[in-house]
Amino acid sequence: MNERRKHSSRPAHNRPPRRRSSPSAPPAEDPARQAALDTLAAVRTRDAYANLVLPDLLRQRRITGRDAALATELAYGACRARGLLDEVLAVCSDRPLSDMDGSVLDALRLGCYQLLRTRIPAHAAVASTVDLVRATAGSRIAGFTNAVLRGVSEKDEVAWLAELAPDREQDPIGHHALRYAHPRWIARAFAEALGDTGDELAAALAADDSRPQVHLVAKPGEMSADELAAVTGGDLAPYSPYGVRLDDGDPGELEPVREHLAIVQDEGSQLCALALTRVDVETDAAEQRWLDLCAGPGGKSVLLGALAGLSGATVDAVEKAAHRARLVRTACAELPVTVHEADGRDPGLPAGSFDRVLVDAPCTGLGALRRRPEARWRRQPTDVGDLTRLQRELLGSALELVRPGGVVAYVVCSPHLAETTGVLAEAVRRSGARQLDAREYFPAMPDLGPGPNVQLWPHRHGTDAMFCALLRRPSG
Ligand SMILES: C[S@@+](CC[C@H](N)C(=O)[O-])C[C@H]1O[C@@H](n2cnc3c(N)ncnc32)[C@H](O)[C@@H]1O
Repeated sequence: MNERRKHSSRPAHNRPPRRRSSPSAPPAEDPARQAALDTLAAVRTRDAYANLVLPDLLRQRRITGRDAALATELAYGACRARGLLDEVLAVCSDRPLSDMDGSVLDALRLGCYQLLRTRIPAHAAVASTVDLVRATAGSRIAGFTNAVLRGVSEKDEVAWLAELAPDREQDPIGHHALRYAHPRWIARAFAEALGDTGDELAAALAADDSRPQVHLVAKPGEMSADELAAVTGGDLAPYSPYGVRLDDGDPGELEPVREHLAIVQDEGSQLCALALTRVDVETDAAEQRWLDLCAGPGGKSVLLGALAGLSGATVDAVEKAAHRARLVRTACAELPVTVHEADGRDPGLPAGSFDRVLVDAPCTGLGALRRRPEARWRRQPTDVGDLTRLQRELLGSALELVRPGGVVAYVVCSPHLAETTGVLAEAVRRSGARQLDAREYFPAMPDLGPGPNVQLWPHRHGTDAMFCALLRRPSG
């Protein structure tokens, strides 16, 4: 027997019984776990997004209530925790994970997640997983699954971490990365942005590892945040005057969302778009022209378009991907927004003609990992180089499209320094643009750091980790 499995830290009454494989036993009816397992398979085999696949499966199979909640917890949780689960499974299996059939590994991850991170009794976690495997892979593999999960069940998460995580003093980033189930390179990027490898890094990764609230924005001019909160049962967002936060639920089912009076949008995104509209821009023109240079799928275009409509301005929205440009058109149907399917680096719009330009650039999305359960394991450090090149080019284009005296907001949903201050430093040097203290345009928000840029954080603000810089093009 493996030495590390001799002492169990799990209470005896919570240990799973030894199971004998019985080929004739029919698989248990378990729609929640089956939906979670099918979601993991879709993520693995077709690079699907768990948070798109699962709601569809739940709808198609009419899974609701507690079963839907369980499926969601298991599917998203197992996606998020994959790195930690794999480390533990590797210790408990007598064959490398890379040699396993993908569907068996999915099931093991699902079982391991239940054992380490839920209150589901161990015997139920193991038995239900074994039943799922038996139904598709047969009794021999079911027996293997049973053995591996019994090994996992001998310790709880704390005990496994004590055994497997690097020492916190010697390797704090490795320690926190495993503890909060993040790839090391992402934990390092967070540490560099925070300037901390201790408690604050732990808090940031922990916040990123937990289930986020749903944030809504009430469309200005259509509905107030008070009304939206009353209709949805949500709470007023602490910082955005248009925001509401909800603990739970399918936002697509909410009446204000169905009637296009509100949309789903992280409060951090709302605040970055609002910051751009709050900067003073002197102009002689009767109506201001605003530009959203990377608009798809249109969340910020909707907020900008609604605010522009109220102030007599218009918005041009540029999006390179045809299907995403269509989404912007649909989202902004009633608003003073003109959508252009074009490359933001050369969109064919007149230079020097926009009062306000938003560059919500394509990025690694490291700031929104909590909303995309599998993303942290799909992203690679090599993605950063290509993205920063594109980000630099888009910001350069924005600084040509804005008129002298106008303002550009450079926004990314990532705290990675290469994507934030790295991109910005070069753009400022090349263009001579003046950096504004962006903190002034995020009023009444605590913990915004030394400026001039704003980096929001889930653990500090409850928002995604959005970065926002404001640049003014010199007048003369
Ligand atoms: C971070 S997303 C923007 C999110 C959007 N502002 C919102 O709030 O819904 C970046 C968008 O930029 C688009 N994009 C990528 N390269 C582009 C380019 N060269 N020109 C314009 N848009 C581009 C992507 O297709 C993606 O839709």
